[in-house]
Amino acid sequence: MIGRLNHVAIAVADLDKAAAMYRDTLGAVVSAPIAQPAHGVTVVFVELPNTKIELLAPLGAASPIARFLERNPDGGMHHVCYEVDDILSARDRLTAAGARVLGDGEPKTGAHGKPVLFLHPKDFHGTLVEIEQV
Ligand code: CO
Repeated sequence: MIGRLNHVAIAVADLDKAAAMYRDTLGAVVSAPIAQPAHGVTVVFVELPNTKIELLAPLGAASPIARFLERNPDGGMHHVCYEVDDILSARDRLTAAGARVLGDGEPKTGAHGKPVLFLHPKDFHGTLVEIEQV
């Protein structure tokens, strides 16, 4: 059911420092920071030949990654995102198998303007999983 790895998201406390590390030390192509107030994050996209890394920093008081950074002050891997062809049939298959979908279970528009859902990390070996319809 899942297809390509769309991105790995890494929460960081200092976005400029993290972007500079990916650009200067790892030699990757990185975007300028993009504020996404609807998601409570500012994002830097790191373009790799086969996937993307998203560096996420909190934006606003109710940022969904603020608590994660409290527990992981050095930052850390926040979620992985897999592509699916049909997000509603993927959701139905996952919930039928006992996986928990976060929120109200309805797809939201994600960072790339495509429908996304997040799956409970306890059901996926401790990893927050995002699925994105492409
Ligand atoms: Co994501």
